[in-house]
Amino acid sequence: MKNSKTDLSQTVVSQSAIDVLLQENRKFPPPADFQKNAWIKDEAIYEKAAKDPEAYWAAWASELQWMKPWKKILDWKPPHAEWFVGGKINASVNCVDRHVFSQTGHHDKRNKAAVIWEGEPGDTRTLTYWDLYREVNQCANVLKKLGIQKGDCVGLYLPLIPELLIACLACARLGAVHSVVFGGFSAESLRDRMNDAQAKLVITADFGWRRGNQIHLKKVTDEALQGVNSVKNVIVVQRSANSGFQCAFQEGRDYWWHQLMKEADSYCEPAETDAEDMLFILYTSGTTGKPKGIVHTTGGYLTGVYATTKWIFDLKDEDVYWCTADIGWITGHSYVIYGPLSNGATVLMYEGAPDWPEKNRFWKLIEKYGVTIFYTAPTAIRAFMKWGNDFPAGCDLSSLRLLGSVGEPINPEAWMWYQEHIGRKKCPVVDTWWQTETGSILISPLPGMTVTKPGSATKPFPGISAEILNEAGERIETGGGYVALTKPWPSMLRTIFNDDERYVKQYWSKWPSKKDVYFAGDGANRDQEGYFWFMGRVDDVMNVAGHRIGTMEVESALVDHPAVAEAAVVGKAHDIKGQAVAAFVTLKSGHKPSEELAKALKEHVAKKIGSIARPEAVLFSADLPKTRSGKIMRRLLRDIAEGKALGDTTTLADPAVVENLKKQYESLES
Ligand code: WTA
Repeated sequence: MKNSKTDLSQTVVSQSAIDVLLQENRKFPPPADFQKNAWIKDEAIYEKAAKDPEAYWAAWASELQWMKPWKKILDWKPPHAEWFVGGKINASVNCVDRHVFSQTGHHDKRNKAAVIWEGEPGDTRTLTYWDLYREVNQCANVLKKLGIQKGDCVGLYLPLIPELLIACLACARLGAVHSVVFGGFSAESLRDRMNDAQAKLVITADFGWRRGNQIHLKKVTDEALQGVNSVKNVIVVQRSANSGFQCAFQEGRDYWWHQLMKEADSYCEPAETDAEDMLFILYTSGTTGKPKGIVHTTGGYLTGVYATTKWIFDLKDEDVYWCTADIGWITGHSYVIYGPLSNGATVLMYEGAPDWPEKNRFWKLIEKYGVTIFYTAPTAIRAFMKWGNDFPAGCDLSSLRLLGSVGEPINPEAWMWYQEHIGRKKCPVVDTWWQTETGSILISPLPGMTVTKPGSATKPFPGISAEILNEAGERIETGGGYVALTKPWPSMLRTIFNDDERYVKQYWSKWPSKKDVYFAGDGANRDQEGYFWFMGRVDDVMNVAGHRIGTMEVESALVDHPAVAEAAVVGKAHDIKGQAVAAFVTLKSGHKPSEELAKALKEHVAKKIGSIARPEAVLFSADLPKTRSGKIMRRLLRDIAEGKALGDTTTLADPAVVENLKKQYESLES
C-alpha cells in the first residue's frame, strides 16, 4: 500500500511549500475590542456541539421560521442524508417576510436596507426589506403567470444586479428550483446546464457592465437556447432604461422584466416547501469533462448558511456586509443571498470590476457605504498587493471591523498584507474553507475567540467533524493527508442532479471501508494545535483565480478543435491567480504549430467554456508523457510548465517525450 505522502505528490503544492507554511509561527489573538462584543468567545461551544451535534443543529434550525415543525432531526442512510424530516419551511419567508413583519424575538426591519447596490458606471439602488418583499412577491407572480410551478427549474443568467437576488428568492417563494449560471460562461455552457436540468424559463439581461464593456447576455442566451427545447419563455431585465441598447426579441417567447413586474400583484402566497425540497442546482467542475449539478435542499442549507454567517462574520444588526463574490458562484448564493438575508443584514452588492475606473474602486465603496464586514478572495488580495498600498491608504477604511477570505489557500504574505493594509491591524481575518458541495463554511476561525495564524483556515466550525485521513483511511493527528468529513452536516449537498451514482462514487467511495465518510478532494496538513493548513486539490481540478475548472473540461474543449489530436491540461502556479491554465497539445497530421494556432485554441476554449477557462499557455508537442498503461502524467507536465526540475520519470513509456517537451518549453521562455 502506498503511503499518503506518495499519493499526495499529485497535489499542486510541493513539499517545500508545505514546509514553509508549517514554519509560519505568527499568531494573532482576537483584538480585545472585537472580542468584547463578539457572539462567541468561549471554547466550550466546540465540546457542546460535538457531544450532541443533532441537538446543536436543531437549536440553530429553530432560530428560523418554520411553517410546520420537523419530526426527526436527521435521517442518515449513508451517503444520503435528510435533515429536519417532515419540516416545512420557505426560504423567501426566512430571508424577507420575517424581517418585514414583527414577531417574537425579531424587531421589525421593514425600512432597513436589505440591499445596497452599485453598478459599475456608478448608478445606485437601495432596496429596504419592505421593497425587497414587494419585488420578490411580484417576481414570484410573474413566474407563476408564465406557468412556473413548484419543482420547475428556472435558469438565471444575469449580471450582478438586484434582479438576480430577487429572482432567486422569487423561485424559492414558489418552491421552484433556480440554476444560476455565471454571466462569464459561454452559450454552450449555458445550453448544457439548461438542458441538464430541463429549465422551463430563463431570466437574463440585455447587457451588463464589466470594465467599461457591455456584456451582451441576451445575445448569448439566444445562441444558447438554440437546442434547448424545455425553455418556453425568456424574461429580459433592461440594465438601464435610457441606454438606447437594442437586443433581438422573439415574439411570444421573450418579455421585458419591467413590463411584467408592472402588471404583477404585490402578494404571492409562499409555497409550503418541505425541508428536503430542492432549493437550487449549481454546476461546478469535477474530474470529468462534464460539470456536476450540485443539489441543495431548503431546511438544512438555510440552517448552515444562517449559523455560519452569524458566528463567522459575527454579524450584528448595525453591520454593512459586503461579500464581493458574484451570485453565479456558491459564495454568492450562500453569503450574498441566503446567509446574510436570513439574518436580516444589510448587504452591499457591486456589479463590476475592482479596478474600474481606478484601482481603488473597492476601497471607495467601503468608504462610501461604511462597510463593516468585507469578504473577498486571495486572488483579489494578491492583485491589490501588486497595485500598491497607496490605493487603500487613500481611502477611509475605518468602518471595517472584520475581514474574510475564501476560495483558495491564502498565502501568509497576502494574509499579512490584508490584515495590515485593509484591516489596519484592528480587524480579525477569517480564512474560510468550504466548497460548492458543502453549502456553507466548514472550517474557519470564530473571530472573537480563535487565535489566527496567517495561511491557516484554523479549525472546524462547531458541529462539523473534519479530519485528515491517509490513503488507507486512517486518521492523521498531525501531518498531511486528505481532508475528510466524518459526520453529515445540514447544508451538505444531497446528490448530483440526475447522477446519484456519480455522487456516491465521487464523494463517498475514496475509502471502501468508510462509505459514510466524505472525500473533499483537498489536501491539508494539521499542525500540533489542530489547525488546518490547506494545500490545494488532490484531483484533476484547477483553481484559477478562485474558480474551479476541471482539467478534463478544458481538454475536451481543446480536442473539439479540428486541428487537435490530443490535449493535456494542468494548472501551473501563478502569482495572482493562484493557478493558470497550461495546455499541452498534439496536432493532427496536416496541421503545424504556430502562434496563430495557439491563439485560436485559446479562443476556442473561451468560446466553448467561458473566458475564465482560457489557457494562458498552449504548448505543442509531438507526443505527451504517458505511463506504460497510457495515463497522462500531469505531474510532469506541471513541472515543465512551472519550469521545475523533473520528478520521477521511470514509469514513463517513453522518457524522451518529456525531455523534448522540457527543452521546447525552455526555448519558449528564453
Ligand atoms: C478551495 C468555493 C483553501 C478548495 C467556496 C475547495 C479553499 C474548493 C478555501 C472549492 C480556503 C475554498 N482555503 N482552499 N479558505 N476555500 N478552497 O466549490 O480547493 O468554488 O475544494 O467553493 O476551493 O471551490 P468552490
